[in-house]
Amino acid sequence: MSEKIRIGTVGLGLMGSSIATCILAAGHEVTSLTKDIGVAGEARERISGFLTQLEEEGLLKEAPAELIRRLHITDDINLLAAHEVVIESITEDVEEKKKLYHELEKVLSPAAIIGSNTSAIPVSILQQGLKYPERLLGIHWAEPAHITRFMEVICGKTSDLFYAQKIVILAEQWGKEPSLLRKDIRGFITNRIMYAMMREAFNLVEKGYATVEDVDRSLRNDLGYWITFAGPFRFMDLTGIPAYLTVMRDLFPELDNTSKTPALMEKLVAEGAKGVSNARGFYPYTPETAEHWEKTFIEFSYDIRKLAEKYSKKI
Ligand SMILES: NC(=O)c1ccc[n+]([C@@H]2O[C@H](COP(=O)([O-])OP(=O)(O)OC[C@H]3O[C@@H](n4cnc5c(N)ncnc54)[C@H](O)[C@@H]3O)[C@@H](O)[C@H]2O)c1
Repeated sequence: MSEKIRIGTVGLGLMGSSIATCILAAGHEVTSLTKDIGVAGEARERISGFLTQLEEEGLLKEAPAELIRRLHITDDINLLAAHEVVIESITEDVEEKKKLYHELEKVLSPAAIIGSNTSAIPVSILQQGLKYPERLLGIHWAEPAHITRFMEVICGKTSDLFYAQKIVILAEQWGKEPSLLRKDIRGFITNRIMYAMMREAFNLVEKGYATVEDVDRSLRNDLGYWITFAGPFRFMDLTGIPAYLTVMRDLFPELDNTSKTPALMEKLVAEGAKGVSNARGFYPYTPETAEHWEKTFIEFSYDIRKLAEKYSKKI
């Protein structure tokens, strides 16, 4: 697979836009399928802005104006024919995603890879009923997808490992540090671990042990301090394994294992809170402070990427 193959994307929402940016930045022609062509101008502008930021951070080999010319936004699925890889990042809805794959199968060659950016739908479920299920993979990105080095490539029950390995090679050319999951599991790696952490965070808050602010502060200054440098296993190596076993014996039985969703979360969502995108969340925001948090998060994402690259070169 050559470095400059045409890549297709589907969906131009939050993640679809940053995914298209990442692939354009790596030098590919990108055809982005949207169901609403009315958003094309806005999406092109957003992606152009992301490319300009990448240039300012010294992360582009070509000028943003040159790269954005290689983006083709369309609502005609037939224009994805002859693409070797199509990455779907539409709404997290099994039936919507499956409907799209059936449509894609009508235009793509049987060997074209379809990747889904699903957060937590098992790939094996998405493969059901497809004519060529072996070419469907999970290709899981993290936001902002044009900055983070994260990617999980996931095989469903009937995925061909050969296709997954092709994506791993491509992803490395896109500046990612991909992990390959040879077997499908709901939530993959990071979401399983992140949601286990969130469940315990709600447990501490809802039972009155600590406030939202205190939980956030502790995690930022402990996990946040080392987790970009070392995963949990390397961290145990660095800090001494036996003590962790002792703690596990006492602590595991006490950790929250409820399958109920947190009441606090249910309440906020019922009240319409979306987070900084509508300035309503766990913390109070004004539109200005919400925008400030969004901007600062992008600034931090570039800084942490640089720090991660610096230290991965040293190891
Ligand atoms: N937001 C995140 O941080 C994040 C992280 C990892 C994975 N994901 C996953 O990525 C996917 C997209 O998430 P998002 O946050 O970008 O959502 P989003 O709501 O911002 O974007 C989804 C977009 O898909 C479009 N769409 C829906 N059906 C379509 C169709 N049939 N054809 C073309 N476009 C269609 C919608 O109009 C919308 O613009 C979801 O599966 C989500 O679980 C999101």
